[in-house]
Amino acid sequence: MDGDTPEEVLAEFKERRFGGWGILQLTAGTGLAVYAVWAGLLMPGFRRVPLKLQVPYLPASRKQVCNVMTLLKGRSGSIADLGSGDGRIVLEAYSQGFSPAVGYELNPWLVRLAYFHAWRRGHHGNVSYLRKDLWKVSLADCKNVTVFLAPSVLPLLQEKLLAELPEDALVVSGRFPFTSWTAREVQGEGADRAWAYDIQAQRQRAVPQRPAGGSLSS
Ligand SMILES: C[S@@+](CC[C@H](N)C(=O)[O-])C[C@H]1O[C@@H](n2cnc3c(N)ncnc32)[C@H](O)[C@@H]1O
Repeated sequence: MDGDTPEEVLAEFKERRFGGWGILQLTAGTGLAVYAVWAGLLMPGFRRVPLKLQVPYLPASRKQVCNVMTLLKGRSGSIADLGSGDGRIVLEAYSQGFSPAVGYELNPWLVRLAYFHAWRRGHHGNVSYLRKDLWKVSLADCKNVTVFLAPSVLPLLQEKLLAELPEDALVVSGRFPFTSWTAREVQGEGADRAWAYDIQAQRQRAVPQRPAGGSLSS
């Protein structure tokens, strides 16, 4: 093979005939490799999370982070990113004055990477990345919440947020909106878009309005 030109190698490859067994081996090998990357790098720690709630890692784009931060302007206090990935939103939020700034993330590799990024930016000890299942943490003290999760899990998350967040909380969702909520503000376009929601307003909409002096039943 040494000394073969790329053209010769390609010609040799084209001439080769894969039998059924060869194709099976190739398919199985590829499947195994994809599974190994999925299970080992992208989804470790998710064994106890039901399949329909598992959301893979995809980092927010620079523009998306910028849109999320624009929607948080004028806010302060605690912030939590649910499914914090490599920690970029938490780090940016801390840089812009939010504290405590916490990320909840199940993937241990991403938690380590997030701490590495924090250390590199000189914020080690100022931000927290907790290896916890976002469905199991209490959000009762979170004034500001950011999420970038799959659309399929947002209806369930909506219930958790409504049940637990304080009345003056703000939720900012990147890329995907909460379809049955009304946003107070939207920022950006396409895949980088983000939506901001007042929890108080969503709760008021969820409660049927009682006519003055009247009852709900007709
Ligand atoms: C689409 S990524 C978003 C990452 C980050 N928030 C960002 O904006 O760059 C979703 C992240 O949520 C994490 N995640 C999914 N389900 C989770 C769960 N039940 N508890 C904690 N983290 C979870 C995934 O590991 C992944 O890192």
